[in-house]
Amino acid sequence: MVNEYHTPVLVEETLTFLQPKPQEIYVDGTLGGGGHAEQILMHCGPDGRLIGFDQDDDALATARERLTPFGGRVIYRKGNFSTLGAALEELGIAKINGLFLDLGVSSHHLDDAERGFSFQGDARLDMRMDRGQPLDAWRVVNTYSPEALAGIFWTFGEERYAKHIIRELLRVREVRTIDTTSDLAAIVESAVGAQFVKKTLARIFQAIRIEVNRELEHLSSVLRQGIDSLETGGRIVVISYHSLEDRIVKDFFRDEARTAIPSGHKLIPDTPVQPRARLLTRKPVEASPAECGRNPRARSAKLRAAERI
Ligand SMILES: C[S@@+](CC[C@H](N)C(=O)[O-])C[C@H]1O[C@@H](n2cnc3c(N)ncnc32)[C@H](O)[C@@H]1O
Repeated sequence: MVNEYHTPVLVEETLTFLQPKPQEIYVDGTLGGGGHAEQILMHCGPDGRLIGFDQDDDALATARERLTPFGGRVIYRKGNFSTLGAALEELGIAKINGLFLDLGVSSHHLDDAERGFSFQGDARLDMRMDRGQPLDAWRVVNTYSPEALAGIFWTFGEERYAKHIIRELLRVREVRTIDTTSDLAAIVESAVGAQFVKKTLARIFQAIRIEVNRELEHLSSVLRQGIDSLETGGRIVVISYHSLEDRIVKDFFRDEARTAIPSGHKLIPDTPVQPRARLLTRKPVEASPAECGRNPRARSAKLRAAERI
C-alpha cells in the first residue's frame, strides 16, 4: 500500500542538493507517501531529525506508517507548510538545516476518484487537500462571479477558451448546480468541442485546484519563512510541476541571491543589498529519460535549489 501511494521523483537529485547530514534538522513540507522523507532520514542517520508536514490526513497516515522505523527522529505536523515559522517556534527550534518541498498533489489524490481532483473519474467537485477547510471546488464552480472565474482560469490555467467555458457554466448555473467532476467536464467539452478537450480539462482542473488550495500563496509564504529559518549553509530544495510554481521559486531565489536592487533608471544607481542565498541551480534540474519512462509524473518535474549564505 505504501509504495502504491506515490512514487517519489528526482530522489537522487534531491539528496545531492539537500546534502542531509547527521545531527542536523530538516523539514519536509510535503510528506505525501514519505518517499523523500525516508531517504532524507536514511542519509542524516543516526541522529538527524525531520519535521514533516502534510495537510492531508491520508498522506500523514501513510507517511507515519512508512517512517515508523525512524521512531522519535520524526515530528509530524498535520497542517499547511505555510505554518512553518509558527511550528518551529512552538517546537523550540531556532534554525533548520534544510527545507524540502515536493509540490502539488500526490498520485493518491489523483487516483482516489472520490477526492474530485481528476476529470477522468466521477466524484463530487471537491479538490481539497485539507478536507477540513470550507472552500472546495463545488463552491468555486457554483458561486464565484464570472470575473473571479475568468481571473482563475486565465491566471492559474492560462486558458484561452476561458470566456466560452464561463458562458456555458453560467448558462447551466441558471437552471441547476454543477455537482460532479463529470458534470464539469461535460460543460467544458460542450464549450470547446471534443478535439482539444483533454488539454483544456487539465488546465481548468489545475486552475480550480490551485484556487481551492491557495497553492501559490502558500508557496510564496513558506519560501520566505524557510529562508528566515535556515542556518548558514542550509539549503532549500523545491520540486515543482507547473510553470506558475516554478516561476515563483525561480524569482524568489533570484531575488534572495541578488547583490543590488535595480533602480529601473540608468541615471539612478542600483541599491546594493546583502544577498541571503546562493543559487545552486541556474537552470532547473529535470528527470532523466529513464525516470520519465518509469514514472510519467516525473516528466513535468523541475527541481531548483539554493543555499543560505
Ligand atoms: C507530490 S506529494 C509529495 C510526495 C512525497 N514527496 C513522497 O515522496 O511521497 C505532495 C504532498 O504535499 C501535500 N501538500 C501540498 N501542498 C501542501 C501545503 N501547502 N501544506 C502541506 N501539505 C501540502 C499534499 O497533500 C501531498 O500529500
